[in-house]
Amino acid sequence: MTNLPKIALGAWAWGNDGTFGGNLGAEALRPIFDTAMENGLNLWDTAYAYGMGTSEKVLAGFLNGLPRDSYLVSDKFTPQCASDKPTAMADMIEMQLELMNLDRFDIYWIHNVWNAPHWTQELAKYFEGKDNVPLIGVSNHNLAEIKQADEILKSHGLKLSAVQNHYSLLNRSSEDSGILKYCHENGIYFFSYMVLEQGALSGKYDSMHPMPEGSARAQAYNPVLDKLEVLNTKLKKLAVKYGVDTAQIPVAWAIAKGTLPIIGVTKASHVDDAVKAMNVNLTEEETAELEKTADSLGINVIRFWEKEMK
Ligand SMILES: NC(=O)c1ccc[n+]([C@@H]2O[C@H](COP(=O)([O-])OP(=O)(O)OC[C@H]3O[C@@H](n4cnc5c(N)ncnc54)[C@H](OP(=O)(O)O)[C@@H]3O)[C@@H](O)[C@H]2O)c1
Repeated sequence: MTNLPKIALGAWAWGNDGTFGGNLGAEALRPIFDTAMENGLNLWDTAYAYGMGTSEKVLAGFLNGLPRDSYLVSDKFTPQCASDKPTAMADMIEMQLELMNLDRFDIYWIHNVWNAPHWTQELAKYFEGKDNVPLIGVSNHNLAEIKQADEILKSHGLKLSAVQNHYSLLNRSSEDSGILKYCHENGIYFFSYMVLEQGALSGKYDSMHPMPEGSARAQAYNPVLDKLEVLNTKLKKLAVKYGVDTAQIPVAWAIAKGTLPIIGVTKASHVDDAVKAMNVNLTEEETAELEKTADSLGINVIRFWEKEMK
């Protein structure tokens, strides 16, 4: 398997598309980027769909001029953003490369399952026989869909290298459905997204201090913040034990489960926390206790673009 860092950093919020609230400009984001690169966190996850190129453009502005082997870019093909032309796949990839001033991506994903076998076929046809083929991944796919994608890629001499799904203490359906096991057995990276449930498991929010209204995440999580206090209290206890902040515990948990968490970062301190989380080694008992508590809450955090992995 290609050697990747233990943690990837996510730039969805950098797209300012209304999911997170607020408006982040390059000036505010620059220190985040610099702190990450100084600490060896150089794997950046983005998508054209994150603000229709906004996230990609900001990231590209920071990468510009750096040696190409000093960073890794993980970008996505979002079917809903593609045209209906026969050249839609090539058009999208080449438009994204131009937007980011790159000649290749390090990882490239099919973002979701909308007409996915068709788009995976198109992706495979595009990269077949080319130099500089990125690691190819699929996102928001269930186990049957993952296997199907791998078959399509194999028939073009390629292979599936990564899966990216929602995976957190509150949503372990990728584990329950055998996806995690399949990935581990087949040398496929499993990237977990929304490990912090967009901040709801960071220790920063509770029913007295909800997420600012007017964002998609506030709509999703504010109604369950009271229930989440039980889990957040347990996370805080472990954070005290390990001398870290609450947000580091879900990240350490995701690493302990053999996954590569993508942490959405909107402040330089989030990067510092992510770096520290790599040194927290939770015991099996602690991991199990957190999962038991999370399960007891009966909260469904599956969002509109995804599904339970069965
Ligand atoms: N493939 C897909 O369909 C898909 C879907 C979702 C996400 N993703 C990827 O996964 C990445 C992560 O997901 P996400 O950004 O939605 O959610 P997330 O990582 O669960 O949460 C990110 C939010 O948590 C807060 N946070 C992060 N680190 C913190 C820390 N150390 N202490 C306190 N708060 C902290 C920040 O919000 P505040 O500080 O503002 O509270 C940040 O915006 C995305 O950026 C994207 O790259 C992919």
